[in-house]
Amino acid sequence: MHWNKSPLLLLLCTAVLTVPGTARGQETTFSPEAKQKAEALLKQMTLDEKVGQLNQSAGLVLPGLADQKPDDLIAAGGAGSILWQMNAAEINRLQHIAVEKSRLHIPILFGFDVIHGYRTVFPVPLAMASSWDPSVEEQAQHLAAEDSRAAGIQWTFTPMVDIARDARWGRIVEGAGEDPYLGSAMARAQVRGFQGDNLNPQSVLVCVKHFAGYGAADGGRDYDASYIPEELMENVYLAPFHAAEEAGAGSFMSAYMDLNDVPASGNHWLLTDVLRNDWGFQGIVLSDAFAVGSLITHGYARDGEDAAHKAVTAGLNMDMASLTYSKNLAKLVKDGKISESAVDALVLPVLEAKYDLGLFEHPYVDESKVDSILSRPEGLVLERKLAARSMVLLRNEDHALPLSKDLKKVAVIGPLADSGHDIEGGWTVEGLFGPGSKSHPVTVYAGIKNKLPSAQVTLVTGPEISRIYPGLLDMLSGRKPVPPPTAAEAAEWIAKAKAAASDADVVVAVLGEISSMSSESASRATLDLPGIQQQMLETVVATGKPVVLVLENGRPLDIRWASEHVPAILEAWYPGTEGGDAVADVLFGEVNPGGKLPLSWPRVAGAEPLYYNHNLTHEPEDRPNFTSRYWDINSKPLYPFGYGLSYTDFKFSNLHIGKNAQSAADSNEVTVDVTNTGSVAGDAVAQLYIHQRYGSASRPVRQLEGFERIALKPGETRTVKFVLGENELHFWSPQTRKWVVEPSAFDVWAGGDSTAPLHGEFTVTQ
Ligand code: NOJ
Repeated sequence: MHWNKSPLLLLLCTAVLTVPGTARGQETTFSPEAKQKAEALLKQMTLDEKVGQLNQSAGLVLPGLADQKPDDLIAAGGAGSILWQMNAAEINRLQHIAVEKSRLHIPILFGFDVIHGYRTVFPVPLAMASSWDPSVEEQAQHLAAEDSRAAGIQWTFTPMVDIARDARWGRIVEGAGEDPYLGSAMARAQVRGFQGDNLNPQSVLVCVKHFAGYGAADGGRDYDASYIPEELMENVYLAPFHAAEEAGAGSFMSAYMDLNDVPASGNHWLLTDVLRNDWGFQGIVLSDAFAVGSLITHGYARDGEDAAHKAVTAGLNMDMASLTYSKNLAKLVKDGKISESAVDALVLPVLEAKYDLGLFEHPYVDESKVDSILSRPEGLVLERKLAARSMVLLRNEDHALPLSKDLKKVAVIGPLADSGHDIEGGWTVEGLFGPGSKSHPVTVYAGIKNKLPSAQVTLVTGPEISRIYPGLLDMLSGRKPVPPPTAAEAAEWIAKAKAAASDADVVVAVLGEISSMSSESASRATLDLPGIQQQMLETVVATGKPVVLVLENGRPLDIRWASEHVPAILEAWYPGTEGGDAVADVLFGEVNPGGKLPLSWPRVAGAEPLYYNHNLTHEPEDRPNFTSRYWDINSKPLYPFGYGLSYTDFKFSNLHIGKNAQSAADSNEVTVDVTNTGSVAGDAVAQLYIHQRYGSASRPVRQLEGFERIALKPGETRTVKFVLGENELHFWSPQTRKWVVEPSAFDVWAGGDSTAPLHGEFTVTQ
């Protein structure tokens, strides 16, 4: 990979503080004891056994992908890890073979995508990021870790920390949105939630994915190539990965796509120069599924042997499912193309992880306890609380919300209103691969009935949202394609919705996308409400009855009409198992919503990619002669990054910056007062943004460098403190190709979203 090098860089270096590398140096990803034991074990292993440890086998649920019968493969030490096996009894059976029949008795590491909960399904990651409260992620993932271990899973393929600036990309739902600072906070919280302070026999190994740049796919089309210059990688896309690494993440997953023409799974710059050399990572790099084999498909590797060679030399430890290592690695060593010591270096962290996870001492699951642990009621209580904490109130004209509990007649409208399948979002463990979901998700319709036991609650779902071809998750969970309704069917549903609305005191329209529309291999070219949902919405609004729109979706949608005609809009995302009760808690005012958008909400798909932390143009937006960038729509987001309403109001005042001038090595304390000026208690999120006015590169018009979610009683004021030091002020300069804090004037804003007007400034001197 070649980056632009500028002759200016030496000149510029003289005026800046160059921030030393942030690698963790001598610190190891796994414990020194594990290292010692792993090294001793490695000495006893044959080459074939070493290669076996680098194979993550999918053969057990996808027959045809394994050359040998699974039992024989395991007995021969040919599978270091197994994925997509969710049955605890089967996990135990296979583990017995590994521990009792393989020569060195090395246990298997079982991996799965425990993305937002196991049987208790938490809100999707984009929702949890909307809480602007990292403890939401930490608590959810801690419970998910306990459940996973109880069920026999010791390795989760999460957190997904890909920055996503384009809502057309279906996997935006799996990450924390568009911002590197917020994304880093959420990444760290997830690592802590799963692994704890250190990997241990109770914790679950995380796998930070998809390394890296996967969210910048051309046109928002999943798997498509990304072209990201070095400064954008360093300042934006890599930031949450580095944060996760610094928090102790034990494994990373290489992405599928080409990054600047080099596939991520064979990309030496990513997997070795950045991850291992710059950051000091010593853990496992696992490929995404089949990605080593796909190096051939990309037109990067000649054949399997070349693919294995390229992946190994790039720094990739374990091959997920493609069997390319199993088939080629031993030969590459025997032919002298890869040294055995290079293979040893790849195997070592796999063994270390197994030691730290306690697998050698306790390889089996207590099958008798699985069900009771996964069904713990405290999980559901936590889920409901975190779901409500993740919702974002987008609009609330004339205090349309909260609703009264004295309502006698409520009409609940829309194809998602009673869809248990969708309210949990994609990537649910049991829904996908398990023996049948044991969770009983509470839909919004059920939640409203629970809240109003004596009211008449009428449901009109409308036709199922059509899908002409099944998404990836649809296929895995056996969901069939659904054709669009005929004109007569559509008219019938519209008439039913109109009748129910006309007869109700209030209408709650639950609209959005089915969960598989926003997931892997599920990009969209438009952001419209699919099917006849827009018509249904316009019909119920036309009755003149008060309408509340509840959105269930994994990406922002085109809700321009609703944003002008529907008095209240609550973004619930996919809120999880107890989602319907949590929505009702918010609608009826038992919980005051405090979530904020982790992304800029576009008006239309054509505005994407859209993000608040863009650079200034030569004609900035605040100048009188600024003309919009589009002829046909307002170029600003419908709702800005960081935005979200509450049932109360907040005032931000007294922005105080400790020093007018500071040196580059110094730090500055910024305080702001936040007052609840309304009559109910509520949560505000104090947000701090900065802008560097000049230097060796143009810097974003604003960038988030601090936030805190605080609870305030009516009339209460709290002073929130932020520190602006090296970590907040530095950036990767494309001219010096280093992390620098530069002498410059800085703007500071504090407030409730990324357009906050409260402003101050300070200077960084040399
Ligand atoms: C492919 C997906 O890209 C990745 O996120 C997931 O972890 C693996 N499949 C394993 O299920």
